[in-house]
Amino acid sequence: MVAFSDKQEALVNGAWEAFKADIPKYSVVFYTSILEKAPAAKNLFSFLANGVDPSNPKLTGHAEKLFGLVRDSAAQLKANGAVVANAALGAVHSQKAVTDAQFLVVKEAFVKTLKEAVGAKWSDELSGAVEVAYDELAAAIKKAY
Ligand code: HEM
Repeated sequence: MVAFSDKQEALVNGAWEAFKADIPKYSVVFYTSILEKAPAAKNLFSFLANGVDPSNPKLTGHAEKLFGLVRDSAAQLKANGAVVANAALGAVHSQKAVTDAQFLVVKEAFVKTLKEAVGAKWSDELSGAVEVAYDELAAAIKKAY
């Protein structure tokens, strides 16, 4: 069980709203950061074949899904103290043999992107809340392998 407060959930929701304000822009920040740290990810994500193109709906759609799932993870943590990922999500990632190191690269890119989206309202507390929501979701995806 993870203790997750109303305030932490509200902080994660606020960060999600900031990301949603300009999904193409923040999707570029997100994937550029992933590729900086893990250039091989270009071959993993089909929608990166032509580079980080903000007008590619597959690219922005995938970012929106991922960020939205972390927001749902915060809601699950607040309600139940635990996160459950659906089996299909586990299957996609187990087929691609996604590693812990890759989950970390994506986490760092995710936090960096939200930090840029939130701007001056960013805080250690907000960072902590989004990190817990991401980590618990990542653990739930791996459990569903
Ligand atoms: C908590 C972290 C993550 C979440 C919430 C997440 C979420 C998702 C979602 C929603 C999909 C799309 C499934 C569909 O369209 O049916 C997906 C696909 C995928 N994910 Fe993740 N993901 C996470 C972490 C990662 C990591 C760390 C990697 C590897 C670097 C990764 C690699 C992929 C790949 C390769 C696909 C298939 C994309 C394609 O269509 O080419 N994911 N992920």
